[in-house]
Amino acid sequence: MTQSAPIRRVPAHRPRLLDLFCCQGGAAKGYADAGFDVTGIDIAPQPRYPYRFVQGDAVAFVRDHGAEFDFIHASPPCQHDSDCQRLQGRDHPDLIAPTRSALNSTGRPWVMENVKGALPKLDRPVMLCGTMFGIATYRHRYFETGGGFTLTQTHHPAHTAPQAKMGRPVPPGWYGQFVGNFSGVQHARNVMGVPWMNRDGIRECIPPAYAQWIGTAALRVLLGVAA
Ligand SMILES: C[S@@+](CC[C@H](N)C(=O)[O-])C[C@H]1O[C@@H](n2cnc3c(N)ncnc32)[C@H](O)[C@@H]1O
Repeated sequence: MTQSAPIRRVPAHRPRLLDLFCCQGGAAKGYADAGFDVTGIDIAPQPRYPYRFVQGDAVAFVRDHGAEFDFIHASPPCQHDSDCQRLQGRDHPDLIAPTRSALNSTGRPWVMENVKGALPKLDRPVMLCGTMFGIATYRHRYFETGGGFTLTQTHHPAHTAPQAKMGRPVPPGWYGQFVGNFSGVQHARNVMGVPWMNRDGIRECIPPAYAQWIGTAALRVLLGVAA
């Protein structure tokens, strides 16, 4: 494993972000909004992905090319650890450990995101919730960091809004759970800030606001900007 060196300062060009397991680009949009030049990798074709896209295996790609990027985000598939997939008896490969190992081999700063079910496999993750960003869905996601990059846990406001049942229509003033074959794609697009996505992308994505917050913190370090 390559030891994490002090994070190198990035020169005048827009810092390059590698978005592993990119799907339709929820994380990507947040990093682009923060100021990164984004390249996404996914094993499946992603015609809705709004940025530069390479189809391929993310673990192989980051081993071969990760060091060419300034910062790396990874969202290995969470189906292995999500309740609804376990209930359906589906079996998916667990890519968390292989992804971490490949990320560490690059020597670059990184973030790896996953769901609550994966918590035992994540090392001291920071949790983000829609309440932290004024988004009407709780959608907790967990972010492990490495390669010399760290995040500080931000305050988690109380869940005061009622939450619609998983996948069910969302009454006015309630928070939605956009999972499975949820109803109300247009509402979910509006809530999460992902107008280009279809249902398949929305149920998988992190809200761009989460990645924008992380990307802004990363750029402070990469560009040497004072907090
Ligand atoms: C949870 S989604 C990522 C969501 C994305 N971060 C977002 O915010 O929109 C996981 C993605 O991993 C992709 N995937 C699964 N196995 C893969 C592999 N070995 N290499 C690359 N992508 C893979 C799936 O096709 C899926 O699009």
